[in-house]
Amino acid sequence: MTERGLQEVVTPVAVTDGAGVRLRRSIATETLDHLDPFFLFDHFGSEDPGDYLAGFPMHPHRGIETVTYMLDGTVAHRDSLGNAGVIGTGDVQWMTAGSGILHEEMPKAGPRRLDGFQIWVNLPAKLKMTRPRYQDVPAARIPEVSRPDGARIRVVAGEVDGVAGAVKEIFAGPTYLDVALPAGGSLEQPVPRGHTALLYVYRGAVTVGGADRSRGAAAVPSPRLAVLADGDVARVHAAGGPARFLLLSAQPLREPYARYGPFVMNTREEIAQALHELREGTFIRRG
Ligand code: CO
Repeated sequence: MTERGLQEVVTPVAVTDGAGVRLRRSIATETLDHLDPFFLFDHFGSEDPGDYLAGFPMHPHRGIETVTYMLDGTVAHRDSLGNAGVIGTGDVQWMTAGSGILHEEMPKAGPRRLDGFQIWVNLPAKLKMTRPRYQDVPAARIPEVSRPDGARIRVVAGEVDGVAGAVKEIFAGPTYLDVALPAGGSLEQPVPRGHTALLYVYRGAVTVGGADRSRGAAAVPSPRLAVLADGDVARVHAAGGPARFLLLSAQPLREPYARYGPFVMNTREEIAQALHELREGTFIRRG
């Protein structure tokens, strides 16, 4: 068993997207284009509604799955499949854009902060044009594993201690864990060799790898995205005080890709085709 070390620590970039939403982006930047199969990692979080109320008005996606996980606040959404609703604290929304979807994501001003994450998981070439689908998973359906040492792990996707996550049908089969460690606590989680693995530390600070810790390894503070080196197991330790982080992993697709805005396809021709269909009004497949 080889422990996964720390390969790279990425500082999120402040960006403005949608109609003027200020957020922190760690994947899909000049520093880090993608971590196969993850093609975007956004952390939206603010106490100022001015940072998010403009929202993300109707826009297309093709070729990816988007997963939105809310820590706090509410986002209203509707899409070209006819879905409409509101996701709130602890809820997950996952959307398979497949052949094409139009949707709107509008954060609401709340009594507390807005906080959460959106990631894009790439679709394999043979499923790029699969039928779009959409699902909300309410917070109550997301299992939480509590370990004797005080670690609490919300299993959004994947498996922890034999407990399967709530979201099972993302084609790339990612693991998506939201981990809360008490001061001095640790998480040990098997991650198959060859899989991409990353941490996103959003509260407190962590160190990675038991051996590193004894050598006094530098802590990864929040907010940072830490790319893990290859190995069989991730070991994460809360450094100094309680810590919260996401652990994401998945098997890379290792396919050619072409990205343009909200589309991730395999070739430039497929991107041009998507733009052409948007202009022609044939982007959304009927029936
Ligand atoms: Co979108």
